[in-house]
Amino acid sequence: MKILLTGGAGYIGSHTAVELAAAGYEVVIADNFSNSSPKVLERLEMITGKRFGLYEIDVADKTALKKVFEENKIDAVIHFAGYKSVPESVKVPLSYYRNNIDTTLSLLEVMGEYGCNNIVFSSSATVYGTKAPYPYKEDMETGNCSNPYGWTKLFIERIITDYAAAKEGFSAVLLRYFNPVGAHESGLIGEDPRDIPNNLMPYISRVAVGKLPYLNVYGNDYPTKDGTGVRDYIHVTDLAKGHAAALDFAEKHSGVEIFNLGAGKGISVLEMVNAYSKACGHDIPYKIAPRRDGDLAEFYADASKANVILGWKAEHSVDDMCRDSWNWQSKNPKGYNE
Ligand code: WQD
Repeated sequence: MKILLTGGAGYIGSHTAVELAAAGYEVVIADNFSNSSPKVLERLEMITGKRFGLYEIDVADKTALKKVFEENKIDAVIHFAGYKSVPESVKVPLSYYRNNIDTTLSLLEVMGEYGCNNIVFSSSATVYGTKAPYPYKEDMETGNCSNPYGWTKLFIERIITDYAAAKEGFSAVLLRYFNPVGAHESGLIGEDPRDIPNNLMPYISRVAVGKLPYLNVYGNDYPTKDGTGVRDYIHVTDLAKGHAAALDFAEKHSGVEIFNLGAGKGISVLEMVNAYSKACGHDIPYKIAPRRDGDLAEFYADASKANVILGWKAEHSVDDMCRDSWNWQSKNPKGYNE
């Protein structure tokens, strides 16, 4: 089976490529490297011993995308390609709607032209919006997204759902990620945000390796266990394995199925800071800062559906997440820009 990963050189995509190769799939990557590095391909070969097909293209470019399907019999697609910065999406909403939706429309149109009827989509817990009670369940109301990035994910879920309803035999799995963190155990691939990280874990890892002076803890007056924000962190390798399970499910079913991919429990910012200190062997300096606009106090997944139907659940602990993040960051202090 040959699988196309759009955005496959990215953080989640590259870790998924490792797990798909291990599961015996042939993997082709389409990526424009707008938020990833070509270096990832050689790291993937070092980990898997396999050379992955690569097309350096904008997935929204149908002519370029058709070439991928002309030259490869693609059995299924995992669609990662898309912009994903929450604060950037607030600043430049039109580029987020243009890019994230155009890539999806082009992909679905080309899949249709080449008879490819299986897709796994990289969605996000942000689609539950700001009013959903936690733990989040897949059949809950969605909407009230707090930023354009989250709306693009929800709109794409709708587009795929409507397309599946119109296309006999089409199979779609929508994966709602919680907070992916950590890195492959080899330390050869990991999270490498372009600029100053928005997300907690890559920010902590850069403080730990000395690239940033201290962490700003955005608020310690939330109604949570220790006053700091609580999230459902999931090891990126567990998330990647969830994609392999979703792919297998998609190939055996038709219609649309939604799954939360989370660990099913909440960890606070300060708990993560303490776990990271243990992993790296020194303190992580931090300062309490004002709350960040748009942040929720707490949310985490009800991950039982993926366990019951896909036979998947997150196995790694918070200590594993910090250990593997530190292993990656300490071996690659400048990320892929060595
Ligand atoms: C986690 C907690 C912050 C940075 C976002 C997207 C979501 C997904 C994951 C793509 C919060 C606190 C953070 C910092 C801090 N991305 N924090 N200091 O906001 O839960 O989710 O990333 O799919 O779609 O919305 O993740 O890592 O930014 O924040 O105190 O420097 O860490 O307040 O409580 P978030 P995050």
